[in-house]
Amino acid sequence: MPEALKSKLIRFAKVEQIKLVLQDLNCLSERLFVVEKHFHHMVAQAFALGATAVVSRPREIIFKLAQIEVAEKAALTDFAITSREIADGAAAFASMFSAAQGGKLINLSDAERATSEIIDSIVLNGLGAWLDDVRRYHEGTYQHCLLVTGVAVGFALDIGFSSLDVKQLGMAATLHDIGKARIPLSILDKPGRLDPAEDEIMRRHPVIGCELLKDTSGVSPEILDGVRHHHEYLDGSGYPDALTAPEISDLVRLLTISDIFAALIESRPYSPPISRQDAYKILCGMDGRLERTLVKAFRNVALVA
Ligand SMILES: [Fe+2]
Ligand SMILES: [Fe+2]
Repeated sequence: MPEALKSKLIRFAKVEQIKLVLQDLNCLSERLFVVEKHFHHMVAQAFALGATAVVSRPREIIFKLAQIEVAEKAALTDFAITSREIADGAAAFASMFSAAQGGKLINLSDAERATSEIIDSIVLNGLGAWLDDVRRYHEGTYQHCLLVTGVAVGFALDIGFSSLDVKQLGMAATLHDIGKARIPLSILDKPGRLDPAEDEIMRRHPVIGCELLKDTSGVSPEILDGVRHHHEYLDGSGYPDALTAPEISDLVRLLTISDIFAALIESRPYSPPISRQDAYKILCGMDGRLERTLVKAFRNVALVA
């Protein structure tokens, strides 16, 4: 909405005056109204005046504006956004993993494309639709990466991150397991538990991922930190560096919670998926290793979004 119109609306107290100003907006398909408090009568009046959506809190406003932007983009390009974005995301992961397997440089634009399409899809359709569709159509490592990025993005949006920070966490999530490209498939796709020797090899993937990305231009130190440390726990029991709480950044803490949750709810050919409720209970039982306040905040994402 133009700034001049916004301030006019704030000044006008009478409904008739507001109606006059709103005539200018008749050509718009989406009209977002902001009310001071989410009282029923205020919301009802906003809809009576022509609102297509009404919000009252800053977080809702940011989220709603992003939804409108993505919906407009989807209308212009005329595609079924969730399925196309899953296909694009999986293609970008395939491209990154095959580059890493073949010793080639990872193309950061693949990660950027996957991340921004996942953000668009979650803003438009919500996290639940993303999780259901990904689990329906994909298996293994790509499924895991698509789910972790979706969960991390949903988490960042829910706690009101700026769009830059949503993207930063999304990129860290997209790239977090890139080191698995160098882990033998017999270990990566083994149904059931890994033996200790296999587990030791698997545990190398954060360091491998960091090595693969450290010379790629455009990969920020925060993203490298996320890739290397997403298996660290606050009590020092994680790997590869056995970091403790003061050394673990907020981005890593959010990423670790998203990673564990996504791993728990994955659909696997050899075992039934764990429900989102049960997965959240497991996170709650990891007190001391995960930050309690963040796990509490994650409830909304795990059970509602
Ligand atoms: Fe990992
Ligand atoms: Fe992971």
